Amino acid sequence: MRIETPAAQLPPAGEPMVDIRKLWSVFTTPEKTFVVHQDLDLSVQRGEVLALVGGSGTGKTLLLRQILCLETPARGEIRVLGKSVESIGQKGAASRIGMLFQHGALFSAFSVLENIAFPLRELKTLPSALIRDAAMVKLQMVGLKPDDADKMPADLSGGMIKRVALARALIMDPPLLLLDEPTAGLDPDSSDGFVTLLRSLHRDMALTVIMVTHDLDTLFELATRIAVLADKRVIVADSPREVLAFQHPFIHDFFLGERGQRAMELLREYPFAI
Ligand SMILES: Nc1ncnc2c1ncn2[C@@H]1O[C@H](COP(=O)(O)OP(=O)(O)OP(=O)(O)O)[C@@H](O)[C@H]1O
Ligand SMILES: [Mg+2]
Repeated sequence: MRIETPAAQLPPAGEPMVDIRKLWSVFTTPEKTFVVHQDLDLSVQRGEVLALVGGSGTGKTLLLRQILCLETPARGEIRVLGKSVESIGQKGAASRIGMLFQHGALFSAFSVLENIAFPLRELKTLPSALIRDAAMVKLQMVGLKPDDADKMPADLSGGMIKRVALARALIMDPPLLLLDEPTAGLDPDSSDGFVTLLRSLHRDMALTVIMVTHDLDTLFELATRIAVLADKRVIVADSPREVLAFQHPFIHDFFLGERGQRAMELLREYPFAI
């Protein structure tokens, strides 16, 4: 079962899925005012898997939260699926955009199935049998077994928790999926399995994905384009090859420092990323 994305949820042909212009994010504490984003521009086209990389605290998670309308920027415009985020609102964003949070905990008192079904139940428009069926479909879509439906989060491995959180993010069949460090904290095998799952879901569900990641394997296996957040803005958003050739200290340290050899190997290993 698939809840089809209404055509009205997609941007008009040729318009980006996400379009961010001249974005400023400014916070004030009793001690100081600090600027996180300054004149940041970023566009994401339909079907892309855009990897967003940047140092800790550069505002990657904040940017995802602004796309979801959970935070309001100080200045600038964010258009999502052809509309301004303000006009979509938090509820509208939640039904159009799937989000796998960086520290995306499940509700510990809810079973796996109840966690997956939660966004649909919140809508209060569908009969519970239908909600259960839709959640079961998503459970299997992320590689879990029907037997897992009644397990509690405390009984799951890290990889299973990520899969449940992903199933919950996809329950509305959103055209846009945001992933914040999807493979952080997973052992190498679980991480590989999760990357394979994300690749097949991207293909099968015609998803557009924005993914924050520090993990080079995840990045090179999935990303069709890389955007680098540094100096409070996106300094480059291009193919992995072009980004690696871009001269900037962060890019040098992130891709070409100690991990450089590995990055070059990955680029050879994953021609998809070139
Ligand atoms: N609502 C808020 N109020 C005040 N400051 C905020 C708020 N949201 C984010 N910040 C600040 O903005 C900066 C960017 O935070 P963010 O969590 O987006 O970083 P990040 O790039 O995701 O880092 P990491 O890689 O460590 O996850 C931080 O200094 C954070 O404290
Ligand atoms: Mg973050």
